Amino acid sequence: MCGIIGYTGTRANQDVVDVLLNGLSGLEYRGYDSTGVAVANSSISVYKREGELSALEETLSDETLDGFAGIGHTRWSTHGQPSDTNAHPHTDCSGRIAVVHNGIIENYQELREALGANGHRFDSETDTEVIPHLIETALEQGDDFETAFRRAVDRLDGSYAVAAIGAERETVYATRNRSPLVLGIGDDGNYLASDVPAFLEYTDRVVYLEDGQVAVMEQSDIEIINENGVPVNMPVETISWDPEDAGKSGYDHYMLKEIYEQPHAIRECLRGRPQTIDESITIDELEDLPRPERIHFVACGTSYHASMYASRLFRERGIPATAFFASEYDVDAIPVDEETLVVGVTQSGETADTLAALRDAKKVGAGTLAVTNVVGSSAARETDRVMYIRAGPEIGVAATKTFASQQAALAMLSSAITGSCSREFVDALRALSDQMQSILDDSSAKEIAEEYVDSDAYFFIGRGYNAPVALEGALKMKEISYKHAEGFPAGELKHGPLALVTERTPVFPLLTSDANYEKMIGNIKEVESRGAPVIAVTDAEERVEPLADHVLRIPKTDRRLTPILMNVQLQLVSYWVANRLDRSIDKPRNLAKSVTVE
Ligand code: F6R
Repeated sequence: MCGIIGYTGTRANQDVVDVLLNGLSGLEYRGYDSTGVAVANSSISVYKREGELSALEETLSDETLDGFAGIGHTRWSTHGQPSDTNAHPHTDCSGRIAVVHNGIIENYQELREALGANGHRFDSETDTEVIPHLIETALEQGDDFETAFRRAVDRLDGSYAVAAIGAERETVYATRNRSPLVLGIGDDGNYLASDVPAFLEYTDRVVYLEDGQVAVMEQSDIEIINENGVPVNMPVETISWDPEDAGKSGYDHYMLKEIYEQPHAIRECLRGRPQTIDESITIDELEDLPRPERIHFVACGTSYHASMYASRLFRERGIPATAFFASEYDVDAIPVDEETLVVGVTQSGETADTLAALRDAKKVGAGTLAVTNVVGSSAARETDRVMYIRAGPEIGVAATKTFASQQAALAMLSSAITGSCSREFVDALRALSDQMQSILDDSSAKEIAEEYVDSDAYFFIGRGYNAPVALEGALKMKEISYKHAEGFPAGELKHGPLALVTERTPVFPLLTSDANYEKMIGNIKEVESRGAPVIAVTDAEERVEPLADHVLRIPKTDRRLTPILMNVQLQLVSYWVANRLDRSIDKPRNLAKSVTVE
């Protein structure tokens, strides 16, 4: 998992470097172990540094680079430690070819040995370094660069988005197989990147490259050639995201900005979907979707929590549904057939485990549906159908607005597929956006975070629809504050975790005025009697206030939608704890935004 960028055009020298560095800053969410750039001008200049982009920027501030074409990379390590040497771009023996790569080359050992036997020497421990050497070999055999590039990638097994430049030319060559790659067509040249925000400030006209296609990107033209060597015309799409959307807009962190964007994200997600006239919910993309016998959700992390939520909703509405960790989904062990709809819930649409589960499901004949945020992502392209959650770009590594939009989208999906919907449910969905805004305006999460920032651990408990959000609250706390946090279905507390509860472990019970209310009160008493501070997240403020140390209030809504509101309070608590601890909130250690390895 890494980010790549490429440019060729009328910009020259320092301007090219600026395009590459700006692009990398838009891609750092994909990994930040090291960064590097290479620029071609009859020779190739390569600069790369371990660590975040600022390290490379510092190195480059003393350099003058010449050239019209360049490539860049931001790395999340897979093969080899983060280091200057393992950073991309990588070059061949002559130093006249440079390559950047996102993905994993599965047969790199074998290729490395074969190349080594022919005198090639490698500097790094990466799988990527074989690629420039393979291109070099083909060039030595008399191929032109384009053919050499094609012959090199034909020898690779695995997943990759690759971009290469040669010293003599102003051309960037690129291809992909199961890793994202998008081309940008600008007035002053052409761009490629792992994701659109990398070049959105220069152009909004994009082409999504497909697996096996090679792009030959010249200054004023891009030729796309299919697997059989035949040039093809690919549709040019216009991205509607405002480049401002990719900036922090005055917030200290993308995560906080994205938390505050949730009312807008929910409105976007609902746009045009609930119908006012007949109270039904229609999702254009899913027209004619037959009612499945059963539904399997496959997802990871936060998206798995959204899937847990959705599976309960479907079960309650009459369709057997189960949420699986995508990495544990095994179509041989779990009966999957043509009557099964397998739904991949993935904000990025690029999570390797989720894609693998969807591919397996497809192989055994199941219908597949992607619920994703990223238009043109692998999940969107590989499944039978796609429902976009329309949250807009999410840069913070911790998922926030995409989780809210996933839940809202899945709530609508359950209504659309099961045909069970009422005017009240539609009204409740529509009210969510304003209700979220009122939470954001009035929340006392920051004060609570201040008071409990030195705690040993944080526990989150809930029942029914609120149980997945308890898990999500703990995940968010762990990943951005690096503090111990756990979430449980509240009934599980007394079966073990209660042993951990002390006066230094605040407990966050999530309770609404529904059938689980009395049992939740019982759980509050259990933790209170062990001295734990109780911070209740509830729509029943008056009843709960006498029992809790603090209350984080949510407005009343349909009981099936409460988790969407509860989670906003939990996001804010985690954010302010992490902020107080001065953590790297947008880029937590060891994590990356899209996990493109299994
Ligand atoms: C946590 C988080 C991760 C992702 C997980 C799946 O804040 O963001 O747990 O939810 O890596 O990612 P997607 O949804 O892109 O498949």
